[in-house]
Amino acid sequence: MSSSKLIKKVWIHAIKSQNIRALSTVTNVSTNKNEDGNSNSKKKRNTATLLLIGGGIAGAAAYQYYKKQNRHAALATSAPLALKDKAKAPENDGGVGELIDGLPMYTMEEVAKHSTLKDGIWVTYKCGVFDVTPFVAAHPGGDNIMLAAGGSVEPFWLLYAVHKNPQVFEIMRKLRIGNLSAEEAAEATKDMSDPYANDPKRHRILKATSIKPFNAEPPASLLVDSFLTPNELFYVRNHLPVPEIDPDTYELEIECEGKSKTFVLSLKDIKKYPKHSVTSTIMCAGNRRGEMTQVKSVKGLDWKNAAIGNATWSGARLCDVLAANGIKDNDEYQHIQFEGLDLDPTSKPYGASVPAWKAFDKRYDIILAYEMNGEEIPRDHGYPIRVIVPGVVGARNVKWLGRIVLSNVESDSHWQQNDYKGFSPSTDWDTVDFTKSPAIQELPVISSICRPSQNEKVQVIDGMITVQGYAWSGGGQKIVRVDVTADGGESWHVATFDQQDDTPAPFNWAWTLWTAKIPVSKKSKEVEIWAKAVDANYNTQPESFKNIWNLRGVLSNAYHRVRVTLNW
Ligand code: MTE
Repeated sequence: MSSSKLIKKVWIHAIKSQNIRALSTVTNVSTNKNEDGNSNSKKKRNTATLLLIGGGIAGAAAYQYYKKQNRHAALATSAPLALKDKAKAPENDGGVGELIDGLPMYTMEEVAKHSTLKDGIWVTYKCGVFDVTPFVAAHPGGDNIMLAAGGSVEPFWLLYAVHKNPQVFEIMRKLRIGNLSAEEAAEATKDMSDPYANDPKRHRILKATSIKPFNAEPPASLLVDSFLTPNELFYVRNHLPVPEIDPDTYELEIECEGKSKTFVLSLKDIKKYPKHSVTSTIMCAGNRRGEMTQVKSVKGLDWKNAAIGNATWSGARLCDVLAANGIKDNDEYQHIQFEGLDLDPTSKPYGASVPAWKAFDKRYDIILAYEMNGEEIPRDHGYPIRVIVPGVVGARNVKWLGRIVLSNVESDSHWQQNDYKGFSPSTDWDTVDFTKSPAIQELPVISSICRPSQNEKVQVIDGMITVQGYAWSGGGQKIVRVDVTADGGESWHVATFDQQDDTPAPFNWAWTLWTAKIPVSKKSKEVEIWAKAVDANYNTQPESFKNIWNLRGVLSNAYHRVRVTLNW
C-alpha cells in the first residue's frame, strides 16, 4: 500500500475510534512561521487536519501505524516490548513519574481538559501530572509538544527517546502539579509497543549517538581502509523508526502539482529502467559537530568525524523515469520534493526537496537506487528505494522513498524548513528565525584526519609520521589539494591522493582518500596535526570553529586538528 493511502487509513481509523478535540491555539505557539506559507495544497490540507485534531489522536494514529508496520515481524519473532512491561523495568528518570504524597489526584478526563494555552497545557508521565504551559514556547521540538497536550507524553517519548535524559526529567520535576492513579497511568499507555522493536540489527562496531531513533558512526580509522565504505560500516542517520516495506506491494507515487494524474511505479517497474551506477559520498550536515561543541554547546547529535561514507549506488535515473512518464523540464516546477515512508507521530513523512532542474539533468546523476555497493540497499539505508542526489547534503537523500512531487515550493517538512540550515554565530534560540536562512543543499569543502586518532601514540619513522584521511566537497567540486601541518602552519605538506574518481568538477561526487608523510621536530614529544582541503573552486576550510559556530552545529568544516604523542 502506498504511503499516502496508508496514512489516510490510519487517520480514518484514529478519527473513528477517538474523540476529536480542537487544538485551536496551536497556531498561537507556533515557532514555525514558514510552514503554512510554503506548503503545497495537499500538504496544507494535512496541516489543517493536524491542527484540528488533538494529541491523543495523533499518538493513537501513529501507534496504529507502527502496530501495522511491526505486525509481521512481531508474529515471526518475539512480541515487541509492551510499554507496561517497560514501565516495570527500572527507568532512569529519578522517580519523576512516581506518586507524590500530598499532591492533588487527577483523572485522565480532567487532564484531557487542559489541551489549549487558554486552559493550560497538561501532560502525564507515569503517575505524574505536569503543567507544561510555561515550557511550551521553549520546547526545542516546537509545536510537537502540543500533540501530547491533555494526554500522556509516553507514546511520543517512545518515538523520541532523546527526551529520556536527566535535563528533561529535571524540567518535568519543576512542572509537577499532581498525581494520576496507577490504574489510569497504565490505561493511558496500554497496548503500546515499542515502535523501534522491528528496527534492523546493526554491526556492533557502529558507535551509537542515539539508539531510538538509531544514529551511529563507525570508528573513523576504518573509513580510510576502503574507497567504498562497506554497507555494514556506513553511518546511519534515522529520525524515526525504520519502516518495514514489502517489496511486492511497494509503490512509488510521482505527482506534478496542479495536475490530476499521479504515476505509480512498483519496484519491478523501477527495475525495468536502464540500471545506472554512481559512486557518491553522503555526509550528514552535522558531521564533526563534536568539535564545534567544544566552542559552545549546540543542539544536535554528538557526531565525531565519521558521519560520512562513500558507496556505489545503482538504480534508475530519475530523469529517465520522468521522461518516460511524459514529465518534461519546462521550467514549470522549481522544486522536486521527496517523501519517505517513515512517519512521525502525526503521520507526516520525513521529507526534503532539491531544485527541480537537477532531476531533469542527466549529468546530475540523481537515481532511484535499489542497490548499495552491489547489494540490495540495507533497511537502515533506505530499502527498497532511496533517492541519491549526489553532491547534496545527506538530509536530502531521502530513504524509503514513497512519493515524489514536482512543485513550485520546497518541501514543507520540518527537516527542510526548520532544521539543516546555517546561522550566524551570534544567533541563539531566542533570536533564530528559520525562514531567514536557505535550506542546506551543497555542502562546503571538508576534510578529516582518520589516522592517527586523537591522543594516539604515533611511531616516528625516519623523522616522519604518516597521516591519512578523507576530503570531500559538495556540488561535485573535485578536491584538488589537501594540506597537512604538524607545526601550527609554519610548514604545510601536500598529501598524496590514494584514490579519487576521475570525473571532472562539478560532477565529482565521491570523496578523496589521502595520505601525508610529515616531518616532526626531534625535540617534540607530542604534536598537533592539522589538515585542510582545497576544492576545484579553490574554496578551503575555515581555520577555527569559533567564527562558524551555529546553534545547530551544522557545516562544521574547520581545520581538523588531532593531538598525538610521538614514539621515537
Ligand atoms: N530519509 C528518511 N526517509 N528518513 C530519515 O531519517 N535521514 C536523512 C537522510 N535521509 C533520513 C532520510 C539524513 S539527515 C541523512 S544524513 C541521511 O539520510 C543518512 O543516510 P544513511 O543513514 O544511509 O547514512
